[in-house]
Amino acid sequence: MTTISIPAPADFHVHLRQDELSRLVTPHVRHGGFSLAYVMPNLKPPITTTEQALKYKAELESIDSSVEYLMTLYLSPELTPEEIRKAKEAGIVGVKSYPRGVTTNSDGGIESYETYYPIFEAMEEVGMVLNLHGEVPSDASANIHIINAEPSFLPHLKKLHERFPSLRIVLEHATTRAAIEAVKALGSTVACTITAHHLALTVDDWAGQSWNYCKPVAKFPDDREALREVIREGHPRFFLGSDSAPHVHDSKSTASPAHGCAAGIYTSPILLPLTAHLLESFGALDKLEGFVSTFGRNFYGANQFADDEKVLLRKVSRPVEESWSAESERVVPFWAGKELGWEIAR
Ligand code: NCD
Ligand code: DOR
Ligand code: ZN
Ligand code: ZN
Repeated sequence: MTTISIPAPADFHVHLRQDELSRLVTPHVRHGGFSLAYVMPNLKPPITTTEQALKYKAELESIDSSVEYLMTLYLSPELTPEEIRKAKEAGIVGVKSYPRGVTTNSDGGIESYETYYPIFEAMEEVGMVLNLHGEVPSDASANIHIINAEPSFLPHLKKLHERFPSLRIVLEHATTRAAIEAVKALGSTVACTITAHHLALTVDDWAGQSWNYCKPVAKFPDDREALREVIREGHPRFFLGSDSAPHVHDSKSTASPAHGCAAGIYTSPILLPLTAHLLESFGALDKLEGFVSTFGRNFYGANQFADDEKVLLRKVSRPVEESWSAESERVVPFWAGKELGWEIAR
């Protein structure tokens, strides 16, 4: 097979940033082969209201109107059930919870989401999606660290699903066999995104290599194998969310000892060719359409797209660009300089 046609690829987790950086990276959604972007709300300040989300959506549309943007709110104590209803009316699709959203009760230090139950009830009622960054915060006294932060989160996922069985929940950017098994064992309202880079990396690749550093960190070879297996299986509740998270060159580089390295891997500009390359490498190229288009769209009910919204991939060998720049910003893509086996026929 030397060409593949994929209908309307959809990236169900992407960071499009703001201002100059946004103007650089937003057009890369389309460049990378995608016609839908599920947009994360962790801006500065975070998107916490319907009004802010609509304003942000308009900004993204003014940069590239050829992509459909599905918007999210950042879960925070200020969010109210009324705001959820207003958001739903305005077409906002989901609410993203970050690690510090898992609050610690004073009694016994049990972490829980209970303070947000009225929000989740409203979301369940109106049909919004809860997007979970499935890691608990590091805590040395409890031996919680970046390797076990995701498995340690899974009981929260289970509990949330039991309490809100009709609420659609997505465990974002899963990286462990434990997470894959946990999601599989839950009902049809629970799904899971997988990034492209976690199909490639393990701990060995980011230790000492700041460009491969992201949260959650890539885990062990057997964990990566579990991600690959569930895609090979064509499981319809597991689909692509790139978590493409651009940071400017100097905040990824560790050349300055004054700061650490920002977490995030930038895949948007090469996303479809990269995903095809990776799926081919582990014998799942026949699952590409399900993984990048059908499964996520079905889960979200985002099935409307034009018949001619198809992207043609062509088998080649070509290197990934070393960097992308505009105005005063520069970002380096994942696998810069490495050969990819597919490109978009333009
Ligand atoms: C950040 C967080 O947890 O706060 N996530 C991460 O680096 N894993 C993202 C954010 O909230 O901006
Ligand atoms: O690596 C990451 N980068 N993980 C996240 O959850 C946030 C993201 C970002 O916004 O940079
Ligand atoms: Zn996240
Ligand atoms: Zn993210």
